Order: sequence, then C-alpha cells, then structure tokens
Amino acid sequence: MKKYSRILILTGAGISAESGLATFRSSNGLWNNHKVEDVASVEGFQRNPDYVHDFYNNLKTEIQQAKPNAAHLAITRLQQEYPAHVDVVTQNVDTLHEKAKNQNIYHIHGQINQAVCLNCGHILETWGDVDTQTICPQCNVMGMMKPNIVFFGENLLCMDSVEEALRHCDLFISIGTSGVVYPAAGFVQTAKYYGADTIEFTLDTTANNYLFDQHVYGKAGETFPLWVDGLIQEAKKG
Ligand code: OAD
Repeated sequence: MKKYSRILILTGAGISAESGLATFRSSNGLWNNHKVEDVASVEGFQRNPDYVHDFYNNLKTEIQQAKPNAAHLAITRLQQEYPAHVDVVTQNVDTLHEKAKNQNIYHIHGQINQAVCLNCGHILETWGDVDTQTICPQCNVMGMMKPNIVFFGENLLCMDSVEEALRHCDLFISIGTSGVVYPAAGFVQTAKYYGADTIEFTLDTTANNYLFDQHVYGKAGETFPLWVDGLIQEAKKG
C-alpha cells in the first residue's frame, strides 16, 4: 500500500447509521417522512419557524443520546496511529465525530447543538430546545434564532479550510454519503484533480461512484476499521 501524508475523510449520514441515527434517503430516511422544502429550506423556515424548530429539537434529543460506532472510532485510531495529517469533513449535523474524539473536524452543514441569531450572527451552543421565543444572549432580540443547519440554497460552512484540504490531500476517503448533494458530492472530483487517490465506503452504489478509484461495499462500522488497521500495519512495516 502507498504511504499517505495528508488524508481527507468526507462523511455522510451512513457513518452514523450504525449508531441508530436515520440517514436521509433510505426507505425509512428523514426525507421520506418530511418534505425537504418544509424543514431544510430558507423559505420553509420563514413560512413556519415553529415547525422547523420542532423538527430539529426532536432530532437534537435523538442525537444527544447516540454513541459513536466503530467507524468513528477507527478515524481516531487513524489520526493517532498513522503518520499523516487527517482532516474530517462532515455533512452530518450530529456530534459523533467529537464524541469519538476525532480531531480537525469541519461541519460543512452545521451542527444540531447550535443556533445562529439572524439579527447579530451570534452562535448559541445548546442541547436544550430553541424556538421562536428564544432570546439571543448577545443582542437580546427574541425570535431570531435559526438552527445552525445549512439549508438548501445557503452557503456551506468552513469552506476556506476545506478547499485548502482538498487541494493538498493525497488520499480522499468518502464514508456513508450518497453523492447526491452538491457541493459536497463534487469534493472527490477536486481532490482527484489535484492528484489524490480516492476510495469510498458505502452500503449501496453512490451517484458519483465513477469518480472513485476504489469502492468498499458494506457497513462502514465493519469495513472501515478493518481497512484502517491494514493501513496502520503497512505503515508500521515501514
Ligand atoms: P444519504 O441518506 O443521502 O446517504 C446515505 C448513504 O450512506 C447512502 O449512500 C447509503 O448507502 C450509505 N449507508 C447507509 N448505511 C451505511 C452504513 N452502515 N455504512 C456505510 N454506508 C451506509 O445521506 P448523505 O449523503 O449524508 O443535508 O446526505 C447528504 C445531505 O443531504 C445531508 O447532509 C443533509 C441532506 O439533505 C442537510 O441537512 C443540510
């Protein structure tokens, strides 16, 4: 196996599936039970903020109880035992990478335990409910807090750091994402353009699978730890 010096891992809902959190596009996924335009669009939030707050407050309760699985923990092992810089770019709004003690985490779609004040930009960190009665602790205005989730049509977060990481990684790993939602689905193309090897870990065929050099099919909690152990063993052999 080749030796890598800079690895970028892109994760999606599939990495958290084995922690009991629903993905978006599976048969019982979140987007089968809710309309994206109602709960994940700026217009939906303006139309019915109470409904949107309720949706994310419920999700927050579920996520707070979830525990990281073997795939999240394998990332920690990779970061601690493999001699490369490893960035974790996640589309997930859960905090399982943090719970697993991963480092260098970029939440490009936001975080469930944060709300942003549309009046002053303050980011409120909380595992409690946020609603239209919530008062911003910075500007004291009520009813302006929005879940800090990137809705369709909004800009992704942390993109300066992510673009830099995409240009410099020599290995791009995707775990548990369907490759449907852009710009994240196009990250593999950028990394490949700058010379990175590319590999995906997924349960089902992804929409952008033709962009990957290698595919590992199966549950990420089973396949990814094995693959990480192999990479670490190779590095130890020198
Ligand atoms: P999806 O639900 O679109 O895709 C989940 C992917 O994970 C699928 O390709 C599954 O095959 C795979 N998968 C499921 N279980 C797995 C397992 N145990 N091991 C490995 N792979 C598994 O979720 P995302 O691609 O993350 O945006 O969706 C992207 C974005 O769409 C989300 O971040 C969300 C949504 O709209 C926002 O909420 C802003």
